Amino acid sequence: MMKAAWFDDLIRLVLTRTGIVVREQDGLCKEIEILSSKQLGLNPQELLLALQFSETESSKVWREILSLLTVSESYFFRDQGQYHLLREHILPELIAQKREQKQLRIWSAACSSGEEAYSIAILISQLLPGLSGDSQWDIRIVASDINQDILDKARTGIYSAWSFRRVDPAIQKMYFTQQGNSWKINPDIQNKVHFCYNNLLEDSFPDFNSDLHDFDLIICRNVFIYFLPETVNKIAQKFVASLNESAYLMTGHGELGLRETQGLVGKSIDNLLIYKKQSAAIIAPRIIESAPHIKKTRIISTPIPKSIPVASSQYIKPAISFAELLQQAKTKANQGQYELAILDCRQAIRINEASPHPHFILAQIAEIQGQRQESKIMLKKSLYLDHDFLPAYVELFNIYMQEGNKKTAGKMLDSALHIVRNLPSHSPVMHYDETSAGELLALLEQFQTSL
Ligand SMILES: C[S@@+](CC[C@H](N)C(=O)[O-])C[C@H]1O[C@@H](n2cnc3c(N)ncnc32)[C@H](O)[C@@H]1O
Repeated sequence: MMKAAWFDDLIRLVLTRTGIVVREQDGLCKEIEILSSKQLGLNPQELLLALQFSETESSKVWREILSLLTVSESYFFRDQGQYHLLREHILPELIAQKREQKQLRIWSAACSSGEEAYSIAILISQLLPGLSGDSQWDIRIVASDINQDILDKARTGIYSAWSFRRVDPAIQKMYFTQQGNSWKINPDIQNKVHFCYNNLLEDSFPDFNSDLHDFDLIICRNVFIYFLPETVNKIAQKFVASLNESAYLMTGHGELGLRETQGLVGKSIDNLLIYKKQSAAIIAPRIIESAPHIKKTRIISTPIPKSIPVASSQYIKPAISFAELLQQAKTKANQGQYELAILDCRQAIRINEASPHPHFILAQIAEIQGQRQESKIMLKKSLYLDHDFLPAYVELFNIYMQEGNKKTAGKMLDSALHIVRNLPSHSPVMHYDETSAGELLALLEQFQTSL
């Protein structure tokens, strides 16, 4: 189908005002057209004009369009390695540093529905147990996002079971109260988090007229992947200026990479990279204190089968094996090098076109990049190749739930349940390496009751 000229202009405008690189995907142009006429009563040209001449922060047109174009996927304690780093190293260090002032300022930048900010509040209340009572500590957690609709959701503090998919049930029970099929964060944790609108590209910070200044820790994860490198550099410099001396910046894995960011030094702790602000006196070209290792299994953690039958008659003797290619693709994807990861997956498919694994990795990359339709196609392809490929059913269930298609989500869940019930309870589940089959079964059964 021919692309409309207004669509390119809109993509350019979104890039200039928000930094978001919108990936073209099937049906997006039509979706915007429908949203514009139904929600705003505007044709696409009128929409474009309205966007050009209105404020990103306050106008209804921007609110609607950003709700559609931003990817708001988040869940509690997302990335256990990074939370381990915060719990065991970074927060104790900051608490020790600030024991005289008894004040900590933390910013969850691009917080989406708030799971990240509330997870930090939970960690701090574990480290400073008297916090909700008469503690003298003044803890301020600011959480901001550009999507006003998602901020409204975050402020309610109410979440479905899906937001707890990596959470110890004991933590869930301790800090949340069940309300029917949902869970509400307890008020003493909720009160620690202050949500506000912020456009990381357009708004200036530090801003001493708002809350955005003098932070001890800024967490900005899984958002730089939607920006161009020059946008990332600009925002990283504003972060540096908004940090106290010796304070920390945590990004998603590989999102800042080894890019020159004046004033930051990369620190590798337990194989995880975090950035520390250098004192003004010694700001020099950026140094990496020890070689950063990107955690090998982060989002994309499909275990590689030891022997893989090669079905293709056009077998090409590879210089690199199928298993190595998949491992390489996962590592690159975890470092944010999506184009290279995709090339590895394609090469892997040429070597073994009967395996569901490369398609599954491609699906995850598409999902990270906000290309949901593409992700669905790849997941279905992996199921076509292997009808019992459990992770594909679980991911499809998640996607259909996000789309509000409960009927198809239910079918995916039934298939996943059927497979997981046949696995030994203690065996690790392919692709969910921190979860046993028994744990996944319990989680999926919880979803089933809430459908
Ligand atoms: C995938 S979510 C990340 C949520 C959370 N940080 C996490 O890792 O779980 C990305 C968020 O970035 C926000 N975002 C995108 N562009 C932004 C911008 N220019 N300024 C502020 N937030 C932005 C989106 O609205 C979305 O909620």
